[in-house]
Amino acid sequence: MKKHHTLYVCQSCAYSSPRWVGRCPNCGAWNSFIEEAPAARDARKSKKAGRSRARSLAEIQPSPEPRSSTHIPELDRVLGGGIVPGSVVLVGGDPGIGKSTLMMQMAAETHADRTLYITGEESLQQIRLRADRLEKRPTEGILLLAETDLEQISSEVETLRPSLIVVDSIQTMYRPGLESTPGSVSQVREATALFMRLAKENNIAVFLVGHVTKEGLLAGPRVVEHMVDTVLQFEGDRQYPYRILRAVKNRFGSTNEIGIFEMRDGGLEEVANPSEVFLSERSSGTSGSSVVAAIEGTRPLLLELQALVAPTSYGVPQRTATGFDTRRLQMLLAVLERRVGLHVGQYDVFVNVAGGVRIDEPGADLGMALSIVSSLRDRPVDASSVVVGEVGLGGEIRRVYQMEKRLSEAAKLGFRRVVIPARTPARGIGGGTIEIVEVETLEQAIGELLGS
Ligand code: TYD
Ligand code: MG
Repeated sequence: MKKHHTLYVCQSCAYSSPRWVGRCPNCGAWNSFIEEAPAARDARKSKKAGRSRARSLAEIQPSPEPRSSTHIPELDRVLGGGIVPGSVVLVGGDPGIGKSTLMMQMAAETHADRTLYITGEESLQQIRLRADRLEKRPTEGILLLAETDLEQISSEVETLRPSLIVVDSIQTMYRPGLESTPGSVSQVREATALFMRLAKENNIAVFLVGHVTKEGLLAGPRVVEHMVDTVLQFEGDRQYPYRILRAVKNRFGSTNEIGIFEMRDGGLEEVANPSEVFLSERSSGTSGSSVVAAIEGTRPLLLELQALVAPTSYGVPQRTATGFDTRRLQMLLAVLERRVGLHVGQYDVFVNVAGGVRIDEPGADLGMALSIVSSLRDRPVDASSVVVGEVGLGGEIRRVYQMEKRLSEAAKLGFRRVVIPARTPARGIGGGTIEIVEVETLEQAIGELLGS
């Protein structure tokens, strides 16, 4: 007879331990261990069918992944060229960001033979209401199933044989035999395993919707990310209509691509010219603002970086960043203090990337530093200039990649001058319509754009 030992599983990374521990030795989370029922473990162990045989590499035919288009170009791009049959995609994001809307739009646009939309969160009526809001109304070909019981779902899938399944959300799905509650590690793992199996055995593409917690992890199940083929992250600031879809993991494509959408009344609309949109509200002539040419994925994107520097009224000066890495901001302030001789220590500094976008690229350093200095001196940065460059700890401006793409985007949007790192290979950059100013140090860049 099999002996069952109790096992404790970390809710954040799925690390298991024979005894309860306060802090996970694997991911460092506190109080994250819960007891897992032995039944859950047994269910996890798969039955081996048939005998495995190794084959030579040469014997295997290199077939390109057949893909079907979602007819939403921004989504296709992030997926790596469309939906791969039999693949499992996790779509993560904060509640309310638009995951269900994106999934419903995908279901409406794809010409899949049969789409099954499984909802565990909303009633069929709520789904219908959302669908009715969409500009392109999904109608025929979409089957709705309000169910969270995996056994029921499994048999319905076997009967219906859909070619596309949306599961909204993976955290609500559960197997009644397991003792743990829906959303726990064992339930979510069980649900993901089931959909993986359904996908691979029947060649069905499956999209799993997952919620993200405040800490940025998918609530509970980090484990899902490891199991699925592709992980997409849907992000944005809810106060703005813009949404960015990124691939965080992709077994069938690159993880560099992003898709940009705008949430409108009739659903998500693709943003064809993001730079124009993100710069549209810029007011020239105000201090504390500069425009950078960044690279998001493989595309250039012009963004406005804003800073507000104000004397600290009491206590420790505040440093607050929205859409920009706080540690990078602190580094830039230290460089301004030590290498440029600006005394920012007695000031509160707030920085923001306009439009609710998040930027993660060293090429934006110079722009942010200039916005800070501009605000501190209350002197506007020249509005017809774009800046690009990484700031080093010595106050030097370092080169960044893909300068040609950045500069042609700047030229396309009518900017007349760019400030870039010295010795950037500048072959035919910007089509010759744009004046190029090369700088070696942060101090020199400040002189160029703000005067001494
Ligand atoms: P939803 O897709 O339900 O988000 P999630 O599944 O990620 O929780 O949509 C979130 C928000 O989008 C909701 O506040 C309403 C808004 N919305 C629009 O602005 N326009 C629309 O056409 C739709 C369908 C939703
Ligand atoms: Mg939803």
